[in-house]
Amino acid sequence: MSLPLKTEILKIDGNCIKFSDRAHLDGSLPEISDAESRQALLKAASIIRDTDETVAFPTETVYGLGGSSLNDNSVLNIYKAKNRPSDNPLISHVSSIDQLNRKIYNDNEQGGELLRHIPQIYHPLIEKLWPGPLTILLPVPNSDKKTLSKFTTGEQPTFAVRIPANPIARALIALSDTPIAAPSANASTRPSPTLASHVYHDLKGKIPLILDGGACKVGVESTVVDGLCDPPALLRPGGFTYEDILNLGGKSWESCRVENKKAINAGEKVRTPGMKYKHYAPSAKVFLLIPNPDKSQHSPLKRLSQFLTTHKEALDQKKIAILTTFDLRDSQIEIENEFNSTVNANALVLNLGHSGEEIQANLFALLRKVDEDEKVDVIVVEGIPEDAEGLAVMNRLRKASGDNLVAF
Ligand code: TXA
Ligand code: MG
Repeated sequence: MSLPLKTEILKIDGNCIKFSDRAHLDGSLPEISDAESRQALLKAASIIRDTDETVAFPTETVYGLGGSSLNDNSVLNIYKAKNRPSDNPLISHVSSIDQLNRKIYNDNEQGGELLRHIPQIYHPLIEKLWPGPLTILLPVPNSDKKTLSKFTTGEQPTFAVRIPANPIARALIALSDTPIAAPSANASTRPSPTLASHVYHDLKGKIPLILDGGACKVGVESTVVDGLCDPPALLRPGGFTYEDILNLGGKSWESCRVENKKAINAGEKVRTPGMKYKHYAPSAKVFLLIPNPDKSQHSPLKRLSQFLTTHKEALDQKKIAILTTFDLRDSQIEIENEFNSTVNANALVLNLGHSGEEIQANLFALLRKVDEDEKVDVIVVEGIPEDAEGLAVMNRLRKASGDNLVAF
C-alpha cells in the first residue's frame, strides 16, 4: 500500500486567462494576468508533463482527474485514485488541433490541412462546438511511434478526444503541451464533482493537487458521439443536446441515433464501456419519479404528495430529501400542508432549478449535498421530460437511482 499524499488545493481565477480566437486551432499560448494563478497552473502543468502523478482541474462540464494520455503510469494512477475498472477508456483532452496533430498523430508538418486527421463527418460539429463539451471518437493512429498509452484507449481501435472550453483546463493542457486523459474526478460509482470540495471529499490523500476554479457551469459531462459508424451515434448525452447534434452536424448527422442500453441486443458488445458500470450513485436510496404525460394537468406538488402517501410505509422514520422543479418560494405553505400530512420526518425540500440548463448545473451538487452533508436515507427526485437537457439529466438520474423508477 502506498502512503497517503498531501492533497494541496490552489485557487485559480479563470477570468485572468485570455486565449486568442485561433488558439484552439494553432495552439498559441494564453496570456495569464494574475501571478498566483500563473504559478499554480505552471505547477500543475509540470506535474502532468514531468511526473507520473495526476492533477484534478475544472472543466466546463465537471472536474476532471488528469494525467498524461501518453504515459502508462500516469493513466494507471488515474484508475488507481478513482478505483475505476481499467477496461473503461478515457477521454484525451487537447488544447488545440495543432496539439492533436503533433502529440497524438506524431505529425509535425506545418501549413497542411489542419483537420487532416479528423474524418470529414466531424468537421461541421467541431467547427461550431469546439472548444466545448463535445467528445468525438477517432481512429487510434497507426504510426510506428506509439503515442497514446494503451490504458488511455482501453486497447480499443478508437480513442475519445475533446477540446474543453474552460480556460483553466485549456491553459493547463496548453502549458504542459501534453494531451490529458481525464475522467470525472470522483471516486468510481459516485456522482461527478462540480466543485473542488467534491473532489477533495472523494480523493484527498490520493492525489497531490486540486486546481480550484469554482463551480462548473454545465454540470454534466460532455456529449460523446461516434461518427465512425453508419449511421452515426450519440453514445452519451451531455453538455450539448441531441438536438444540437442534429441541427448543427449537417446532412450526415440527421440520421444520428441515440445508443442506450435497451437498444443493445443480448451478447452484443457495449461500445461505450462506461455504460455497464454503476454510476453517479449516492449512498442514500434514490427514487426517480418518471413524469406521466397523462397526469400533467396536476401540479407536481400534488403528484409528489400522492407518491409520498402511497409509499408512506417505506418512507416512515426515514430522513428524506425531495428534489423538485416547483418553486419553493411561492409554495412554502402549500408544501407544509401537503407534506406534513404524508411524511412524518421533516423532509428536506430543495429546488432542482427552473430551466433545463439550471437543473443540469445543479444536479450533481444537490445529490452530494443531501447525501454527504445532510446524510439523508432517501432521495426522491422529480424526473423531467427527456428532451433537450432532459435527456442528459435523466440519463444521469436513472443511473443514480439504479433504475429505481416510479411512475408519477
Ligand atoms: O465532460 C467530460 O467528458 C468529463 C470531463 C472531465 O472532461 N470527462 C468524462 O470522462 O466524463 P469519463 O471517463 O467519465 O467518461 C468517458 C466516456 C465513458 O463513458 C467511456 O466509456 C467513453 O467516454 N469512451 C472513452 N473512449 C471511448 C471509445 N474509444 N469508444 C467508446 N466510448 C469511449
Ligand atoms: Mg465519470
